[in-house]
Amino acid sequence: MIVITTPTGQIGGRLLDILLDETPTRGEELRVIVRDPGKLPERVRARVDVVAGSHGDPDVVDRAFTGADAVFWVPPGDPQAPSIDAAYSGFTRAAAKAFAAHGVGHVVGVSSLGRGTAVADRAGLVTASLAMDDFIASTGVAYRALANPSFMDNLLRQVVSIRDNGIFTGTTEADRADPIVATRDIAAAAAGLLLDRSWTGTGEVPVFAPADLSANDMARVISDVLGRPVRYERQSLDDLRARQAARGAGEATVRGYVDMMRAADEGLYDSARRTPGNTGPTGFREWCEQVLAPAVRA
Ligand SMILES: NC(=O)c1ccc[n+]([C@@H]2O[C@H](COP(=O)([O-])OP(=O)(O)OC[C@H]3O[C@@H](n4cnc5c(N)ncnc54)[C@H](OP(=O)(O)O)[C@@H]3O)[C@@H](O)[C@H]2O)c1
Repeated sequence: MIVITTPTGQIGGRLLDILLDETPTRGEELRVIVRDPGKLPERVRARVDVVAGSHGDPDVVDRAFTGADAVFWVPPGDPQAPSIDAAYSGFTRAAAKAFAAHGVGHVVGVSSLGRGTAVADRAGLVTASLAMDDFIASTGVAYRALANPSFMDNLLRQVVSIRDNGIFTGTTEADRADPIVATRDIAAAAAGLLLDRSWTGTGEVPVFAPADLSANDMARVISDVLGRPVRYERQSLDDLRARQAARGAGEATVRGYVDMMRAADEGLYDSARRTPGNTGPTGFREWCEQVLAPAVRA
């Protein structure tokens, strides 16, 4: 039995589709934890065991992890959390207890690149995510942290600005090439680890797109795919701070974002190297053609 958290999320939803395709031939049962089961498509609800509630809730994870062999773990984040550690390790506390209580063998978590870099201990949300990995690893369960760079899919939050103004924004230096990844490739990496549980101990599994890209590189590809000019506009960390606060994020989250983005320009994503084994198939152009362009044209 594999338990999937955040089945309505970008990664969890895609993972569920992959596992639903794979599991009939493998005889593996699937269970999801979901706050609102009505958000799952009927075809999915009919084929999985559903535990309703939040995976941060002790009673919910106690029910959900009964009989579980493996768990896909995503800390959802909480913009109002009193501290970023509360949002990551704190949210994971009940689950960590339940992994041990129910003898869960394997856990695959969604986390970030950055471990081992000079800025890893002052990278805000990433620092909190790495601390969560250490916390899960300390429970004795076999654990793999999917160590991700920025998601290409973050651009979907800027569809309106791309469509209406031909602009997307960010705080990273315009010509600095950084790793990125498509959430579909993270889901595929998670599926591989959850289905073949021959691994032991703890560690991280980076997931990269085939090439690093700068924001200006991305602007060129987006312009080409959409057939009209789109440019990158760099914002300051103060702009980011103000934007996050205007969206209603609490003080700890705002600081967590700003620290993370400052660290991103100071080598946060230099912690792992791309290899054929950790590189997903989805390039940025392909992602723009298949995901971004339809969203912009919708
Ligand atoms: N964006 C990046 O560049 C980046 C990079 C590295 C790592 N990450 C990590 O990626 C993860 C996000 O993954 P994603 O993009 O697949 O997620 P997502 O699409 O943003 O979806 C969030 C999921 O969390 C659920 N959720 C929200 N609040 C919840 C709560 N209080 N209790 C239970 N469930 C809750 C949502 O369920 P509902 O449908 O019920 O709302 C939804 O399924 C985060 O852990 C983040 O730190 C992100």
